[in-house]
Amino acid sequence: MSALEQYKNNFAEVVKKTTLEERYGGRLRCCGILGDRKVGMERDKNSLQRSTFMYNPFRPGNGIEPPYVAGRMEYLQEFSRALDLFEEGLPRNFIIFGPRGTGKTVLVNLFGPIARQKGWHTISREFNSRFCDEERFADAVITDLVNEACNVSFISQIKKRGELLLDTLKPEEISAHGIRYKPFYKKKRVLLEDHLKRILIENWNVFKKAGVKGVVLLYDEFHTVHDGKNRGDYPLASFLGAVAQAQREGCRYVLVLSGLPNLPLNLKEAKTYTERMFVFRELGNLPEGEARRAIQLPLKGSGHKFEKKLVDEIIKKTGGYPYFLQFYGYFVIETLKKELISLSDLARMRTRLLRELDISFFEDRFKKATCAEQEILLAMAAVESNSIAPTEIIKATGIGKSTFFMHLQNLANKNLIYRASRGAYSFSIPLFKEFLVRKKKGMERS
Ligand SMILES: Nc1ncnc2c1ncn2[C@@H]1O[C@H](COP(=O)(O)OP(=O)(O)OP(=O)(O)O)[C@@H](O)[C@H]1O
Ligand SMILES: [Mg+2]
Repeated sequence: MSALEQYKNNFAEVVKKTTLEERYGGRLRCCGILGDRKVGMERDKNSLQRSTFMYNPFRPGNGIEPPYVAGRMEYLQEFSRALDLFEEGLPRNFIIFGPRGTGKTVLVNLFGPIARQKGWHTISREFNSRFCDEERFADAVITDLVNEACNVSFISQIKKRGELLLDTLKPEEISAHGIRYKPFYKKKRVLLEDHLKRILIENWNVFKKAGVKGVVLLYDEFHTVHDGKNRGDYPLASFLGAVAQAQREGCRYVLVLSGLPNLPLNLKEAKTYTERMFVFRELGNLPEGEARRAIQLPLKGSGHKFEKKLVDEIIKKTGGYPYFLQFYGYFVIETLKKELISLSDLARMRTRLLRELDISFFEDRFKKATCAEQEILLAMAAVESNSIAPTEIIKATGIGKSTFFMHLQNLANKNLIYRASRGAYSFSIPLFKEFLVRKKKGMERS
């Protein structure tokens, strides 16, 4: 059985075909990811019809699903299995972490249809640093939960008439049809952990009564939330504690937390039992075979062909970094608009492509840094290792220790670097180091 056939079979098993059909429409069919023989025939027919015109199949973007989701089957299966295991009594939660553009959002979004297919409900939210504040954090979590509970309860009837329960009654406390909404106020001196635990447990009964198997919380950009001892805000520790207790009481909430590589460290610092509560999955560059499929499969039926040497070169240059695979594919097709594209075509447009990548991707990120921070970034790029010790950079830049660490923290807040381990930093964005080397050379020339 070919790898593609295996992928098709596995994918169909993980998510029922009907859901995928609804969700992906013709896109997956014509790329050959989904389907039985009939679909395969339909795909061939589509390809024939499409051969009269060409389209660009690549999808560089933010959380934009590519036509072929490469190298993620294992994670999809694992997530699917985790829901079954929870029904059998073993709670399983996920931490999906990795550098920018490695496909975290795409993956987490694919968990949604798998869960819903199995009779679970999902709540999705993208977090940001505003939610480090306990009250704001609680408001987001509770509001989402209560809205979902409203969706599954009798109150959905009221909602249909356009009366959004929370919008009309907030911030008053409510308790109706088993749904419990109570805003959290720090000044009332109730611990956030206890407050959240109560809300989670009480609302679980609404889901249970409605026959919902469980609720998956799909929280993206969750690395932006962290506890602040100085401020006295503990959103992470409280949330993890509350969910762990609710799970022990039999409430089926599954956490899927996704974010940059500092996410696991933030969580471990918040609660020591994080390791036992979560399955950690790191996303990075795709292995060669999957990177190749990520380019070749979308091309099927698009009317475009890439010479094998071109595919090899794209894989080599991008290192299998998902966003850049989409970007390279998209850019060469968009620029050349011809049927067969070769390695020499890419060689001719290399400078243009790098300029485009620098302008559209790297420059903006670099400009987010102040002059001193830029100096630190350039010095970091000169270090050979990917794991960089601050002492080395202090020596190279001559910046005073305390100011240096302040800049370092700012760079981490801007998501340009992250603390890879205690005492060592790395770049958050793949190929950023190469950009900085280009940048430095350009600066030295001018
Ligand atoms: N498995 C994959 N196969 C091929 N391309 C992918 C895959 N996953 C993501 N991509 C592509 O990579 C790009 C970035 O994906 P996504 O936005 O999900 O990354 P991310 O890790 O969430 O990034 P960020 O940390 O910035 O939020 C998208 O354009 C998407 O099409
Ligand atoms: Mg994302």
